[in-house]
Amino acid sequence: MTHLIKPEIQDDLLSRGYSRRQMMRTAMLFTGGAAAMLNISGEAAFAQAEDDAAPGGKMIRIGLNECWTGPMEPAQKAAAATFANANRYSPSGEAERLIKTIATVENVPEANVAVYPGSGGILSRTIVAYCSPTRGMVMADPSYNNVVRVAKYVKAPVALVPLSSDYRHDVKAMLAANPNAGMYYVVNPNNPTGTMTPMAEIEWLVDNKPAGSIVLIDEAYIHLSKGYPNNTAVHLVRAGKEVIIARTFSKIFGMAGARAGFLLAQPDVLKKIQLYEGDRPSVATVAACNASLTATDIIAARRKELMENKAMTIAFLTKRGLRVIGPSEGNMVMVDWKSKSNKEMIAIYKAQGVQIAADRWPIWPTVGRISIGNKADMEGFFNVSGKILT
Ligand SMILES: Cc1ncc(COP(=O)(O)O)c(C=O)c1O
Repeated sequence: MTHLIKPEIQDDLLSRGYSRRQMMRTAMLFTGGAAAMLNISGEAAFAQAEDDAAPGGKMIRIGLNECWTGPMEPAQKAAAATFANANRYSPSGEAERLIKTIATVENVPEANVAVYPGSGGILSRTIVAYCSPTRGMVMADPSYNNVVRVAKYVKAPVALVPLSSDYRHDVKAMLAANPNAGMYYVVNPNNPTGTMTPMAEIEWLVDNKPAGSIVLIDEAYIHLSKGYPNNTAVHLVRAGKEVIIARTFSKIFGMAGARAGFLLAQPDVLKKIQLYEGDRPSVATVAACNASLTATDIIAARRKELMENKAMTIAFLTKRGLRVIGPSEGNMVMVDWKSKSNKEMIAIYKAQGVQIAADRWPIWPTVGRISIGNKADMEGFFNVSGKILT
């Protein structure tokens, strides 16, 4: 069967400590049907058909860190116009144009950019390319733990390192947890806490990581953070460092279901990841992404709306005597229910027609995550909370 695997993939896997049998299984991940099974498609893995279950109609969906509104108007127009020509694989160079736009907006050479159908695929491909039974994965806890099952599938040991007491990634403890890991995963702002890790600490990790490893900085929520655009790690790509910056169109751009994300990295890093097959979003999605990135007024308006609705939510919860973890710079807040487990609270809210995040962070059993929706969503949440939180 090994003849089915490209020789360069065989070389890569064997050099990272896989047995021939493990190599087959791992290579299949991105060259065969197993890819679909292991794809990290955003938070959707935790979505349930909850609308149907909501009493008297629609669920208030504040559980999946989705955007409270749809694709931007220019994006919708661009997608519709392009879809009319979708009989062509590339009606008029949409993919190349998007790479150009990303390179311009992020101020990096085009050779540093690659586009994928969602940033989840970027995370799983990076794990497959850099981790192995001898090169583990290190991440914070709690953080975006969808990645864990991919690491486990490729038999990479996973180290979960608690956030610091002020909710930063504890980069020194992360390096100490596995000084020879293949990937160090930093989510900034973090999901689920929304908290930021200072850039100097990320830079320290990048400068001290072992040779041959990668620091993946996941900036899914960066546009929503207070310090944007001065707080991104893109300068590390400009400086030629061994990092990957992952971005998604699923958050501020409101296109979670359209599936698009991109990565910024050195060309040799791109090549290593692309060993495990490329894939790209539909041309209509690509056209929508292109129109979104330069819609700076809409980006600013969405940031403002998010910050207002988040402040209102934090004020509501703290007034009820609950501890809100933070400061959150994402489209989510975590709250400590104190007297009840998060599992119980999820069921209680669900019965009242509110979907909050699934229970995914056992390190904090009484803490839940609420995504920030629009004003009406949040008022619906307050209304239900008024009945639940006594
Ligand atoms: C931190 C983080 N990274 C990546 C993703 C994946 O996003 P997508 O695959 O929709 O681009 C998510 C989704 O919620 C996320 O929270």
